[in-house]
Amino acid sequence: MTIREMQDEIIRLKKENDICILAHAYQTRDITEVADYTGDSFGLSCQATLAPQKTVLMCGVRFMAETVKILSRDKKVLLSHSDAGCPMADQTDGELISQMKRMNPSYAVVAYINTTAETKTVCDVCVTSSSAVKIIGRMKEKDIIFVPDSNLGAYVASRLPEKNIMLVRGGCPTHLRMTTADVKRARVLHPDALLLVHPECLPAVAEKADYIGSTTGIIEYAKNSVNEEFIIGTENSIVQHLQFENPEKRFYPLSKDCVCHNMRLTTLSHVYSAVSLAGGEEIKLEDETIQKARRCIDEMLRLGT
Ligand code: 13P
Ligand code: SF4
Repeated sequence: MTIREMQDEIIRLKKENDICILAHAYQTRDITEVADYTGDSFGLSCQATLAPQKTVLMCGVRFMAETVKILSRDKKVLLSHSDAGCPMADQTDGELISQMKRMNPSYAVVAYINTTAETKTVCDVCVTSSSAVKIIGRMKEKDIIFVPDSNLGAYVASRLPEKNIMLVRGGCPTHLRMTTADVKRARVLHPDALLLVHPECLPAVAEKADYIGSTTGIIEYAKNSVNEEFIIGTENSIVQHLQFENPEKRFYPLSKDCVCHNMRLTTLSHVYSAVSLAGGEEIKLEDETIQKARRCIDEMLRLGT
């Protein structure tokens, strides 16, 4: 089967089997082309509550599929590839957070959405990269424990000096690969380009950027800018999407190493197997986990929209 034939079959099968395909923006183009919705983590969470289909296939990583299940407990939720996890989500757990809460009782715990369902059960609010500043700015608490991404936490702290944000060491191994040496090299090679980076980058990299934002934020910024060249400091699939959607502009990766191998595990064949009801992993969560984890996601949607 050619890629085009497989895509046509996926579109036919998803309708036949009443499946909504959600794809994170880090998925490859052949996958995003067959998705009902593609976006950043916040957009995917909002979309999960709207999909009318009985089954949702999440092409992304495990915490994203868990978030869909938490928001739509009566739906069948499939993860495109069983091994697609997020190393950052595994850097913290419920026990660690409960301990921190006991030691700092006046603090509210804010969890990046890149956390497991179990971790979310003991957090107060969830945030995504595109909504963190808005949500934490709207919280009544001044003292905040932010887990698990200390880079995103540092970015939020720089935007909200009125808050007292305690960071916990953690971060995305993919974004941590980009260094100030990469910025220096890219600026020399592309002196007219604007540097757009994700807040998961190291603060030393982020402070050299012309724009800091989520995957959707970066895509929108580049599309609407009058500038014609951009250096992209996030997962390299975004460089491909941008080049495809804006053929008159030029996009360069900040580092060729910025590839999330977990996101790359899903191929079009995995999507085909899942919509054929022969693949994907069904996400199962205890009712109590769903109930408790939902509180901080609901709070995110309440404060973030
Ligand atoms: P956003 O989707 O919020 O931009 O985050 C990127 C990411 O690393 C998802 O795992
Ligand atoms: Fe996790 Fe980083 Fe991959 Fe996003 S890019 S899924 S944060 S490892």
